[in-house]
Amino acid sequence: MLKLLVVGKGGREHALLSALAASPTPTDRFCFPGSQAIFTSLAQPAHGVHDLPSLVAFIQNESIDLVVAGEESYLVTGEGLANACQRLGVPCWGPPRESAQLEASKEFAKKFLVRHGIPTARYTSAATLDEARSAIPDIAPQGPVVLKFDGLAAGKGVAVCTSPAMVDDFLENVFVHQTFGPGRLVIEECLTGPEVSIFASLADGKYHILCPARDYKRIFDADEGPNTGGMGAVASRELITPEILSQIEQEIVAPTVAGLQHDGLPYRGFLYFGLMLTPDGPKVIEYNCRFGDPECEAVMPLVSGDFVQYILHGARGELRPDLISFSPGWSICIILASAGYPATSRSGDAITGLESIASDEASVFHCGTRLAPDSTPTHPRYETHGGRVLAVVAQGATRLDALNKVNPAAEKISFPGRQRRHDIGQLHFE
Ligand code: AMP
Ligand code: GLY
Repeated sequence: MLKLLVVGKGGREHALLSALAASPTPTDRFCFPGSQAIFTSLAQPAHGVHDLPSLVAFIQNESIDLVVAGEESYLVTGEGLANACQRLGVPCWGPPRESAQLEASKEFAKKFLVRHGIPTARYTSAATLDEARSAIPDIAPQGPVVLKFDGLAAGKGVAVCTSPAMVDDFLENVFVHQTFGPGRLVIEECLTGPEVSIFASLADGKYHILCPARDYKRIFDADEGPNTGGMGAVASRELITPEILSQIEQEIVAPTVAGLQHDGLPYRGFLYFGLMLTPDGPKVIEYNCRFGDPECEAVMPLVSGDFVQYILHGARGELRPDLISFSPGWSICIILASAGYPATSRSGDAITGLESIASDEASVFHCGTRLAPDSTPTHPRYETHGGRVLAVVAQGATRLDALNKVNPAAEKISFPGRQRRHDIGQLHFE
């Protein structure tokens, strides 16, 4: 039996593990750090693991055959998860540390994009407040400017500044209060247009483009309010036209893969292209070295075929697009978030209604839950445990069919302070 380990703990990993479990290749599945929902039905915990060295020891001691990086954090920690796996001779789906800089450092990514002539927003970078102040007018002589802290900032390091006051605020946070710690600032021109998330599997210079998706990042309907990790997602092969997809492949995906090869940056894993479809064509906003969350929750239910073998072959350097396919139609994911999100999050609110959702009606992936004190093995009960709590996902032949399934399913689940958007799958389509 093939032993696989998924690294991560959220809705994305729950969805990945569900797709892996549905694969015809039987597996013995482990997950770290995992979640109680994942451990209830999909995978076993990795006992005794608390950091990268203990994770690597576990992979070795348990003779794990395949490691799948759900989240990026361990790819860039210490020696790097994929680097360690390579040392052990264990296939890993996720890139080595040096290549994961595409996600970890915005300046690294911008330099890569410019070096390889891949369309992206014009930019410069600054190390001090004075440098930033004098650079901003060059990038954005008038109108909005985008400021990005170049480091890990828990999703709060980007400000689309539409007024001088917003610029002042963000600059003060970065350089005076050092809210995100020490680091440089990337200053970008502000692009406009609908966003789309393109995912590709990469292996040694080859690529396979997967089903496109779109996520909804703001907390409130009509894209109002602060950015979140994502409040919902839509996935469909019909999301963009074949012409635009082909333009994205020629101008963005292929040059990125060739650029990695040229720069000597090995890559086996999912690569996420965060794009904006601007009036001047598609441009890269960001790269992530993993699947998107919540896009993964929307895309995974569309996958059929042998997903385990697909990833195993890819992690060994052999890309086999023939092993999987994506259903036609639409998949829509609605996130249920806890009170206070995204500024804070509230844990311990009892969740009701989970058991009333039939498996042919919708899938529910757990993003941030834990078993409630009154839970029993035969009747598991969950409560909130984090900002994004649950992802409710349904499919339909048309976008409206999917919406008509997912919305009532999401309404069956409740907990105190529950937040959700009501325009996922509608906004940016009508
Ligand atoms: P990032 O963390 O770089 O993906 O940025 C987060 C969000 O900020 C993106 O999803 C966009 O909505 C917005 N954003 C980032 N860069 C730009 C840009 N150059 N122009 C307009 N919006 C942007
Ligand atoms: N959906 C945005 C992300 O995964 O970063």
